[in-house]
Amino acid sequence: MSQPLERLQELRQQIRHHEERYYIHNAPEISDEEFDRLLHELEQLEAEYPDLVTPDSPTQRVAGRPIEGFETVEHVAPMLSLDNAYNDEELLAFDERVRKGAGLGDAPVAYVAELKIDGLSIALTYENGRLVRGATRGDGTRGENVTANVRAIKTIPLSLRDSPAGTFEVRGEVYLPRASFERMNRERDAEGEPVFMNPRNAAAGTMRNLDPAMVAKRRLSAFVYQLVLPPNQPPPRLRRSAEALRAKAEGGSHEANLVKSNLVASGSDSNLLASGFSRKETRHSDMLAQLAKWGLPVERHYCKCSGITDVLEFCRKWADARRDLEFDTDGVVIKVDDLALRDRLGTTAKFPRWATAFKFPAQQAHTKLLAIRVNVGRTGANTPYAVLEPVLVAGSTISMATLHNAEDIERKDIREGDTVVIEKAGDVIPRVVAPVLSLRPEDSRKWEMPTECAACGSDLARDEDEVVWRCENTSCPARLRRSLEHFASRSAMNIEGLGESLVDQLIELGLVRDFGDLYALTTAELENLVVTPREPRSDRAVPRKLGKVGRNVVEQIDRSRKNDLSRLVYALGIRHIGEKAAATIARHLRTMEAILDAPIERLQAVPDVGPVVAASVRAFADETHNRALIAKLAAAGVNMASQQPPPDVAALGAFSGKTFVLTGTLPTMTREEATAEIERRGGKVSGSVSRKTSYVVVGADAGTKLEKARELGVQTLTEEEFRTLIIKAAS
Ligand code: IVH
Repeated sequence: MSQPLERLQELRQQIRHHEERYYIHNAPEISDEEFDRLLHELEQLEAEYPDLVTPDSPTQRVAGRPIEGFETVEHVAPMLSLDNAYNDEELLAFDERVRKGAGLGDAPVAYVAELKIDGLSIALTYENGRLVRGATRGDGTRGENVTANVRAIKTIPLSLRDSPAGTFEVRGEVYLPRASFERMNRERDAEGEPVFMNPRNAAAGTMRNLDPAMVAKRRLSAFVYQLVLPPNQPPPRLRRSAEALRAKAEGGSHEANLVKSNLVASGSDSNLLASGFSRKETRHSDMLAQLAKWGLPVERHYCKCSGITDVLEFCRKWADARRDLEFDTDGVVIKVDDLALRDRLGTTAKFPRWATAFKFPAQQAHTKLLAIRVNVGRTGANTPYAVLEPVLVAGSTISMATLHNAEDIERKDIREGDTVVIEKAGDVIPRVVAPVLSLRPEDSRKWEMPTECAACGSDLARDEDEVVWRCENTSCPARLRRSLEHFASRSAMNIEGLGESLVDQLIELGLVRDFGDLYALTTAELENLVVTPREPRSDRAVPRKLGKVGRNVVEQIDRSRKNDLSRLVYALGIRHIGEKAAATIARHLRTMEAILDAPIERLQAVPDVGPVVAASVRAFADETHNRALIAKLAAAGVNMASQQPPPDVAALGAFSGKTFVLTGTLPTMTREEATAEIERRGGKVSGSVSRKTSYVVVGADAGTKLEKARELGVQTLTEEEFRTLIIKAAS
């Protein structure tokens, strides 16, 4: 028995190490495949020895299912906010206040300047080195318990290196890397979902999401910058080391006392001391180094400044250099490095006196809003955008900006002809912030959202709970154009050569009115098609026949007939169906016919398919013209069946030979549902606990069965653990 345990521990340690190399240092030592192999070995071992699964195992990042709302939790010490400085003068004034408060006269104060991460603040509690809680800032005193989501953030270690004893809190910022943000918005756009304004909103929205799997999928990340310890009574024998720690406190005397007491409260300070807390460290910079040693993600560009001049230089440098970072930063946080001095300076009701936030000059500009136009997307969404007099903002010329939606324009009363403030939010798509009312022309008129589609003139409609106006006409040329582009795109039917300009031609000439028409195109038609390549830089855009290119496109179209069903399901552009959902649905339901005929419940029984996706597939299948389109594709010889291996049939027998006992009330499942899940996988449900029982699933108010299980040493599972077992059986 000792062997698997050793291997488990070794694997976990290796995986943690590589997660840190990859997610925190951006410097992996092994390939993704090698990493996956380690993780897979760990998963298999844990499946074999479920008793040895620990909550901090790397396999447990996304355990369980969406949780019901968030519980409110109290912070050990208030999560304060920061005072702001907007220019050099205000920074100098801050320095002046600090020096005055410290009684230092003209002597320079040592600061640490850190990048201000543009995300949402988070408080992480570690107990004897293990992550036990994650909470949002909330109102500063009470926040939301978002532990399940925090556990799904891969940069946050579930257990710390050198496992320091005692309980303490680490504070930091959760953020969404720019690349993840852009990818996520591209996917949302492709699926006809509204895009997020900036990475901060996206991160905040994701953290509020009740499904931890979503957090993992969107690749949230985090940085930490502060250590806080909870209150308790110090026994006298530890007063000396407590004094040493006192100086480490982040914040005024209240927090300093928390630090002092905690070491003591933990009862065993040895680990904390061994981890570097025994020395008389008195600096914030040392504490950051210590957090990093424990394996926590500390943003690496922080700078020890010997006085305010260095701080000003740091702020100047990063006002520009921040563009190359992989995350958004909206300023610099300047903190007094000497923790004892911090203690002396203390806090006001809202802010610490020992820190301030320098805000980078906003990347804003004024320009004229020439016109408001409407763009038509693949799902028929008619989205207004602004055509601007070109203006330079943060190094690039802007001539268009997003206006979000009609409601937003109405609320801000943005009008054509207005001078408007535009902003590059996190260097993504520029947006119109507001009109400058004092510069509004006298004859200006309120802008009204058109009631007809910008492309085809059909009536626009809007769902009650949505802000987006959509064109309902399925053969709207703009929709068709976008839909065809999507249909042919690489991750859909992968028809090379069928790009924007060719699609335009085919529609204009009336050769293609739906996806099905693509399969009727002949080599002769395409070879002889005359295109004028749209090359903006060439003034010699000579019309020419497509020739060989056309022949290739026909070959590509022909080849796409054999595509797997998953590609077709995705290519159809059904709302809310991304690449992954399409693949799972195709793999589980096997044929197009089965998908179109599946009742909502059957669709929802497919892993990861929720009510929204299921309803969307149903709505698609219920439209007669969609059915006709599928029939046309089938008649053209397009493959309608999955070529992927069916979902592991073995998983269905995953519980065979296992006996479960259910006791108490489970939080979300009824007894019947739990029984069905077990029996579906070949397991048995029994009414009484014996030595032969494999697991007892325990809910609220469990009675003698739980006692009996404990007595006999039978493994007990919470509903969450039971669900994990089911998920593992399926993978
Ligand atoms: S220190 C006592 N350091 O900015 C205040 N905050 O505007 C401790 N933030 O609520 C905060 N990066 O959420 C600190 N390097 C950094 C930060 C940072 C981002 C956030 C934090 C805070 C907000 C204040």
